[in-house]
Amino acid sequence: MTTETATPRVAVITGASSGIGEATARALHAAGHIVVLLARRADRINTIATELGDRAIAIPADVTDRDSITAAAERVLAELGGADILINNAGIMLLGPFSAEQRDDYRQMIEVNLMGAITTAEVFLPQLRAADAGDIINISSVAGRTARAGNGVYAATKWGINGWSESLRQELLPQIRVTLIEPGVVDTELPHHTTHGQTKTAINDLYAKATVTADDIAEVIAFTLARPRHLAINEILLRPADQA
Ligand SMILES: NC(=O)c1ccc[n+]([C@@H]2O[C@H](COP(=O)([O-])OP(=O)(O)OC[C@H]3O[C@@H](n4cnc5c(N)ncnc54)[C@H](OP(=O)(O)O)[C@@H]3O)[C@@H](O)[C@H]2O)c1
Repeated sequence: MTTETATPRVAVITGASSGIGEATARALHAAGHIVVLLARRADRINTIATELGDRAIAIPADVTDRDSITAAAERVLAELGGADILINNAGIMLLGPFSAEQRDDYRQMIEVNLMGAITTAEVFLPQLRAADAGDIINISSVAGRTARAGNGVYAATKWGINGWSESLRQELLPQIRVTLIEPGVVDTELPHHTTHGQTKTAINDLYAKATVTADDIAEVIAFTLARPRHLAINEILLRPADQA
């Protein structure tokens, strides 16, 4: 890792129980930061935090539940003096044609991917403002740039993240840098929750060939955060080299 930091900072990572969030927690910990792992699966974040040892704490939290995010923020303030970095990573992808009327899936994606990120940023913003130098990293997707048949509402949540992120960037500069990360296909658990029959088969086939790992994305995030404060990386779109 080429992102060793001189000054340890407190990084809060949502969706840290698997995939990109877990890999980011590991990468930022390796870079010398204090990491706070948030997710609903307490057993997984506890195991990861225990494995990391010093400078890692796990706080079970659901980004759709404002009270649980508020309780997590209170703990971060009390135990670590506040957050310097927020990684809005928690997300779900429940695909299928719009005509399949997966109304519950649409609502869940909007609540987790879009409202979850907005709520978490809102709750942690006073701590980020109080930090000498703050960072918010919002994990969007190629789907936030290019929508396709069958991913409409997932894409809508990521287009929403992109628009909100740019607005936030302008409002919070220069003290808090806001960065949008837009990955293509990454080998994680993300496709496993899709239930629509034909779509599930197609998406599993696509992800079975995934070449980019969560560690690849985590390394980019760690690199972004390690830039000197006069430089803000606003947006990174990154795909597997063979993704059309
Ligand atoms: N993999 C890809 O191809 C890809 C591409 C572009 C963008 N992304 C984005 O990357 C982010 C991470 O996804 P991933 O690929 O790493 O998939 P993943 O392994 O399924 O991770 C998703 C994470 O989100 C958490 N999460 C889900 N609902 C939550 C809730 N209500 N409250 C708190 N945490 C919640 C999950 O933890 P719990 O279930 O334990 O709560 C899990 O840790 C997502 O925003 C996704 O849209 C992924």
